[in-house]
Amino acid sequence: MALLKTTELSINFGGLWAVDKVDFEIENGQIVGLIGPNGSGKTTFLNIVSGIYKATHGSAWLEGEDITRLRPYQIFQKGISRTYQSSRLCWDLSVADNLLIGTYTKQNYSFFDTLFKPKKVDNILFDYMEESLDILSYFNPSLIDRRYDLTKNIPHIDRRRIEITRALMGKPKVLLLDEPTAGLNDEETMTMMDDIRIIKDKMQDIAIIIIEHDMKVMEHVPERIVVFNAGAKIAEGTYKDVTNDPAVIDAYIGGKDE
Ligand SMILES: Nc1ncnc2c1ncn2[C@@H]1O[C@H](COP(=O)(O)OP(=O)(O)OP(=O)(O)O)[C@@H](O)[C@H]1O
Ligand SMILES: [Mg+2]
Repeated sequence: MALLKTTELSINFGGLWAVDKVDFEIENGQIVGLIGPNGSGKTTFLNIVSGIYKATHGSAWLEGEDITRLRPYQIFQKGISRTYQSSRLCWDLSVADNLLIGTYTKQNYSFFDTLFKPKKVDNILFDYMEESLDILSYFNPSLIDRRYDLTKNIPHIDRRRIEITRALMGKPKVLLLDEPTAGLNDEETMTMMDDIRIIKDKMQDIAIIIIEHDMKVMEHVPERIVVFNAGAKIAEGTYKDVTNDPAVIDAYIGGKDE
């Protein structure tokens, strides 16, 4: 049984099929790349899988359980976590605060606990902080000393790492990365590729779906690549397979001609 599977997953926005009958599977421990021209439906696909958009047709399954109609926080609690194409960090908060925000839907204490059981709440938050700093240290241990710095003063690559750390808290089964190298220079992109390998080494069972325009990343990071064009899956295979596929070449060159 696939860890995450979609069957004919589709969404229609005012007549446009932004995701069109996509059959997709990923197993434990796999990294799958998602490529396609701008507007081909990659982000929308992740938005449906993570519950932000509701599919018009088709289904998504996590470990055999139908998750198509669940709400985003329920899907997150079941183990699908993500980062976004543009930063979702609060730049005027500290690194530590941004990390704790990521645990919000997993915080198992009530409003009354905060008033009457402050010690219990302190202990829970302390445990979350420990876990998040531990994950952050996989990528850059010096960030632990900067945990009370405002996020806006942290370098771009490290801000990406904070977002990824936030997504990794609570050990998700599936991590969805939407263009993690966007805005990074070549050297930082290499560092991000190493970071993704670190995630795989440290959390061996985790499955990762990564959307990327940088073909260097696609050549080296995922073991399989799925190609979208106009909402549909048009190819799937190794980097070599898909980059030699006439339908893929046509989708990219056709897109450039328009
Ligand atoms: N909420 C929405 N309402 C209407 N149309 C939408 C919505 N979200 C996405 N779309 C449309 O769906 C299509 C797919 O967009 P999407 O953002 O998924 O593309 P993408 O492959 O992620 O592109 P990029 O590489 O530029 O990030 C586009 O035509 C977009 O305009
Ligand atoms: Mg996108």
